[in-house]
Amino acid sequence: MTDHIKTHKDAGVLTIVMDRPEKKNALTDAMYETMADTLISAERSADVRVVLIRSEGDIFTAGNDIGEFAAMAMGGESPRNVRRLIHALATATKPIVAAVQGSAVGIGTTLLLHCDQVVLADNAKLVTPFVNLALVPEAASSLLLPARIGYARAFAMFAFGDPVSATDALAWGLANAVVPVAELAAAAEKLARRLATKPLGALVATKKLMRDAETITRQIAVETTQFVDRLKTPEAREAFTAFAERRAPDFTKF
Ligand code: COA
Repeated sequence: MTDHIKTHKDAGVLTIVMDRPEKKNALTDAMYETMADTLISAERSADVRVVLIRSEGDIFTAGNDIGEFAAMAMGGESPRNVRRLIHALATATKPIVAAVQGSAVGIGTTLLLHCDQVVLADNAKLVTPFVNLALVPEAASSLLLPARIGYARAFAMFAFGDPVSATDALAWGLANAVVPVAELAAAAEKLARRLATKPLGALVATKKLMRDAETITRQIAVETTQFVDRLKTPEAREAFTAFAERRAPDFTKF
């Protein structure tokens, strides 16, 4: 358990809140563990009909904790709980709603591809800087993102890591609505509660028909092998060191 993830249940909606605003909600192994455990138990809990994922602070999440990436690059243990979370998201059968303000970096964006409804604040920015960190996409985003928004846009998102605005994300089919940031929490809550009044059996069956969990989990396995190998490359070490030293990385020497 970690204090950086809060959960509560109300009216059939289980809310998972990333709560590490001082580090821009960067996700640690302990946070992934609690999120994974919560999602797995939500699948089995009769009083959970919908899951809502949101965060405290000015941004949704800065993605994986780069300090933990750096530790892995130096030969530390390879990630376990992030894999558990991604698997739980990919195989979840109950509907998942996300509410996103500010930047959603890395897994902050790729997890949205596993959510059934996404509400963005007007200041939301979706960023997938995997190549900038000398890594590869994860959470089946190498399959799901091009399928959702087309190859050209997805490749540009991965290769350049430039932020995608809320307006573009909505136009590209990555989100359902854009609302003023002050209205985000209420809008997402309203949507989640509305879903919670629907017949759950029909919702679950519909979601299963729409998502090929087997293909998605197969892609996750392929990506994970490459991701873990890439974490240990000199390129990736340079990217993590540069972040810690607050300087631009220099990949030209590799
Ligand atoms: N991992 C670990 N710590 C992180 C982090 C991350 N992914 N993102 C931010 N932080 C920490 C910073 O080191 C800083 O800590 P400090 O106050 O102890 O120095 C604190 O959070 C605030 O971050 P800062 O960069 O000052 O905030 P900002 O508002 O200027 O920028 C971001 C916010 C998200 C744009 C920027 O922090 C960023 O680019 N983070 C890295 C994102 C990333 O590449 N994630 C990996 C995805 S695969």
